[in-house]
Amino acid sequence: GTDGTGDPRATLGLIGGSGFYEFFESAERVKVTTPFGDPSDDLVIGDVGGRQVAFIARHGQGHRFPPHKVNYRANLWALRSVGVRQVLAPCAVGSLVPANGPGTVVVPDQVVDRTWGREQTIYGEEGQVVHVGFADPYCPRGRAVAVRSAREAGLPVVDSGTLVVINGPRFSSRAESQWHQAAGWSIVGMTAMPEAAIARELAMCFTTIALVTDHDAGVEGGDAVTHEEVLQVFARNIDGLKQVLRTALTAMPADETDADATCACRRALDGIQLPFA
Ligand code: ADE
Repeated sequence: GTDGTGDPRATLGLIGGSGFYEFFESAERVKVTTPFGDPSDDLVIGDVGGRQVAFIARHGQGHRFPPHKVNYRANLWALRSVGVRQVLAPCAVGSLVPANGPGTVVVPDQVVDRTWGREQTIYGEEGQVVHVGFADPYCPRGRAVAVRSAREAGLPVVDSGTLVVINGPRFSSRAESQWHQAAGWSIVGMTAMPEAAIARELAMCFTTIALVTDHDAGVEGGDAVTHEEVLQVFARNIDGLKQVLRTALTAMPADETDADATCACRRALDGIQLPFA
């Protein structure tokens, strides 16, 4: 069922752009309603390498929702409600490290949240006081699979790093960019938070796979970034990224039950009743 209590219809989740629809040979569109309103789009559930995968287009059909308008809570809830416990989340980022140019895949192990005015939590109501651990925001098992898959695809891959998430929708000023770089952070994006935090609040494993599309403004060699440039570089690298995701989804740990999982992600709600379920 879609209430999270029946047999899971999918155990793996993919949050990405509309370019990923063609991932599935045959797929089913599933409309899900959530306590937090509508997700960005229907889920598309299908088979990838023998695994049942639920896909959601982060920005909706025709890229309708800018980063600060994406209903992250509904998107994650929708995935969880069909049984998903492992999420792969590709996104486009600017690089703050001169050596890591466009086309590089970065699998971050840390995040800095500079977003504001977004719905940050599913535990906002009176009587729901839940503070999940977030010291290690990303799933160590998912990250290992992602790094291995990117290496196998022959892409330049960086196996750690800190992702700073700005609110957007504008890009950073040069001073902001230099500040982020001076702090030692490696990539900058607009969508990775609160997505990762809400996944943790739902005890879902979550792995960001960031594709560098540009050197952020202010970084050595970096011009002013344009949306056009981001889209072009993303389009140029989409085939490689898809191959990485296909390999990664196929190789993801098959841990349908919490007892199988060894990571902190899945322990985040131990002893806590998931609300609304
Ligand atoms: N997404 C892609 N490039 C970006 C940049 N330079 N800053 C923020 N988000 C991005």
